[in-house]
Amino acid sequence: MSIPVIVDCDPGHDDAVALWLAAGHPALDLLAVTTVGGNVPLEHTSRNARIVLSVAGVEGVPVAAGAAGPLARELVTAEWIHGANGLGGPELPEPTIPLDPRPAAELMADTLEASAEPVAIIATGPITNVAVLLRDRPDLAPRIREIVWMGGSTERGNATPYAEFNALVDPEALALVLSSGIRFTMVGLNVTHLALVTPSVRAGLAAAGTRTAAFGDELLDFFCRTNAEVFGMPDGPLHDPVAVAVLADPGCVRLRRTRLDVELAGTETLGATSVDFDGMLGREPNAWVAVDLDVERFWAGVVDAVSRLA
Ligand code: RIB
Ligand code: CA
Repeated sequence: MSIPVIVDCDPGHDDAVALWLAAGHPALDLLAVTTVGGNVPLEHTSRNARIVLSVAGVEGVPVAAGAAGPLARELVTAEWIHGANGLGGPELPEPTIPLDPRPAAELMADTLEASAEPVAIIATGPITNVAVLLRDRPDLAPRIREIVWMGGSTERGNATPYAEFNALVDPEALALVLSSGIRFTMVGLNVTHLALVTPSVRAGLAAAGTRTAAFGDELLDFFCRTNAEVFGMPDGPLHDPVAVAVLADPGCVRLRRTRLDVELAGTETLGATSVDFDGMLGREPNAWVAVDLDVERFWAGVVDAVSRLA
């Protein structure tokens, strides 16, 4: 029985592959896609989600735009990794999928109410839209199976020394979602830095031989170049699909139950995710945190999903 999912994203190169994994993996049923301002402004992330799904030949999945920026701060973007339009590299085709007129939180709510079973939300950007949904429609919490979020880190950050980008953009949204009590899984940099786009990974994806694979290879070429320039990581870490893998292939990602909090006031540490594995703070555990990845199994799942698409 496949798991019904909503993907909330900010495409973004790694978001693109996350969408393909969610759309192509037989263990998942992609019901809806929502977009948020993050890697690039909302108009780009919304157009990019439609483009990525169009290239893959995905039909019947509504795409709605959500928050242009965080709950209580100015938007910070990441063009230095993803390019000005958010999908640097390939020439971008016109999307064949229209933008759903509903705001993201409304599409999420409608999708939750229409589903016969609770729906998992996979968030791969700043988690603002999920926070808006839970703030405005707390009655829908029982219809959410769980939330899996790519963001944060058990170690250091990638946007500041202590904050990962998605957490830094909207730490207040993360705190609100954490307080909801809905099963929450954090897939942080400590694990996504194992999902490296090596030359053999790129060759394996390209060998899928699909239109999606060819488009993806151009994306990954750009993504690896910018990660080499910015972080000295020529095998770019493909963060977001790891969050999808948590649901698509649970044996692929090892999780630990722990206490997770986010820094909202730190001058140097704003957005830092505090993971209290040793219970030093004496607080109740409130999250699952990814601590390891079966890298070969992960990439095999990504290649299989991409090969099922157009
Ligand atoms: O820090 C990596 C995360 O920030 C990824 O989700 C990437 O797409 C950006 O959103
Ligand atoms: Ca993202």
